[in-house]
Formats: sequence, C-alpha cells, structure tokens
Amino acid sequence: MSFKAIGEKCEGYLVPIEDIQILFNIRRVYYVYNTPKDIARGFHAHKELEQILICINGSVVINCEDVEGRKEQYILNNPALGLYIGRMIWHTMEQFSDGAILLVLASDLYNEEDYIRDYVEFKNRCNRGE
Ligand code: TYD
Repeated sequence: MSFKAIGEKCEGYLVPIEDIQILFNIRRVYYVYNTPKDIARGFHAHKELEQILICINGSVVINCEDVEGRKEQYILNNPALGLYIGRMIWHTMEQFSDGAILLVLASDLYNEEDYIRDYVEFKNRCNRGE
C-alpha cells in the first residue's frame, strides 16, 4: 500500500496515516533498528495479528509465505510504502541497510501466544486449513 507523502524535495516530506487507509485499528506500534546486514529476523507467523510494515529509513527485504505455500519477496525502500502482513503469513526480514528503521503498526498488543515460531508447525496448520 502506498501513502501520500506531503511536501517537496526542498522542504522534506510528511506522511500521515489515518484510520481510513488501513484495514485494522492500530493497538500497538514498534520499530526495529540497528539490525546488522547479515542478520535475518522474523521467522514466524501470527495466528490472528495483522501488521503493516513501513521502512521509514533505509531499506529492508521482506520474504512472505502464505497458507497456500505462495512465496513473495518485497523490498521496502520508501517511507511512503507499507506492506500489509495479515494472519498466517510466515515472514522473515533481511538485508537491513545501514540506518534502516522498520516501523510496524499492529492490530493488537504483544502476545507470545499468537506467534507460530516453528516452521513445521506453520506448515501443519496450513495443511489442516487453520
Ligand atoms: P520478535 O517479534 O521475535 O522480533 P523479530 O521477529 O523482529 O525478531 O520479538 C523479539 C523480542 O521482543 C521477543 O522477545 C518478544 C519481544 N517483543 C515485545 O516484548 N513486544 C513487542 O511488541 C514485540 C514485537 C516483541
């Protein structure tokens, strides 16, 4: 999803994100920064959580796999670009550039019970249609 960046090159930009543009009510915001280039993060899916990932500085590569086994790779390199990650999407984040800051808007509070951190369990749940 793309957001409207207000402003011009000479003065900089501002990106507002309002209720109407997103698919859920934001209940939590967190950000990831100072991740070394050779580190990959994520390696989980969420049972119910929905999130929007925005790389507000630098760039990062996001790999996603859905319940049908479809794999997609996305490059987030624009602060006006958001990647929606719904429930039951196995995802990893890698190739963080120097200074990359990944902002995440989430539909619910942190709950470790909502995580599926084991890939085999994720695939089993997919096969069972959960
Ligand atoms: P995790 O979601 O595994 O991060 P990543 O997928 O980027 O590696 O979270 C890393 C740690 O931070 C883990 O111990 C849980 C904790 N955490 C919170 O306490 N609150 C939060 O909102 C999030 C996202 C993580």
